Amino acid sequence: MDYKELIKVALKYRERAYSQYSNFKVGAAILFDSGNIYGGCNIENASFGATNCAERTAIFKGISEGEKEIRAIAIVGDLDDYTYPCGICRQVIAEFGKMDAKIVLAKNEDDYIVKDLSEILPGAFTKENLK
Ligand code: THU
Repeated sequence: MDYKELIKVALKYRERAYSQYSNFKVGAAILFDSGNIYGGCNIENASFGATNCAERTAIFKGISEGEKEIRAIAIVGDLDDYTYPCGICRQVIAEFGKMDAKIVLAKNEDDYIVKDLSEILPGAFTKENLK
């Protein structure tokens, strides 16, 4: 699959980052199993712990609109290198995606790498463990 479209959406949402405390902008875009795409940015807070990452913004937007399964998520940060999702976001991706969900780590539309969720969250604790 060509992830350029997904990365474009993530880049667009990175511009909407509310990140005046860290000055670190992140954008994310998620392709759900329906074919719909949702974007999100990081949203910081004067009470730092209330900050929400771009990935979770996009996930919660989609899930609250009735989306079910994450197939792929593109992430663009402010680093010269690829920006990986934080630990909390990896866990939330695992809640709504299979272990082969695609994690697209992008610098721009032409420079990205793709990993399976299982590669960045080995030994995940998931709902399967609670059956
Ligand atoms: N951040 C994200 O939005 N996603 C990540 O994957 C890493 C960190 C945000 C949270 C905070 O607003 C800023 O980046 C610095 O941690």
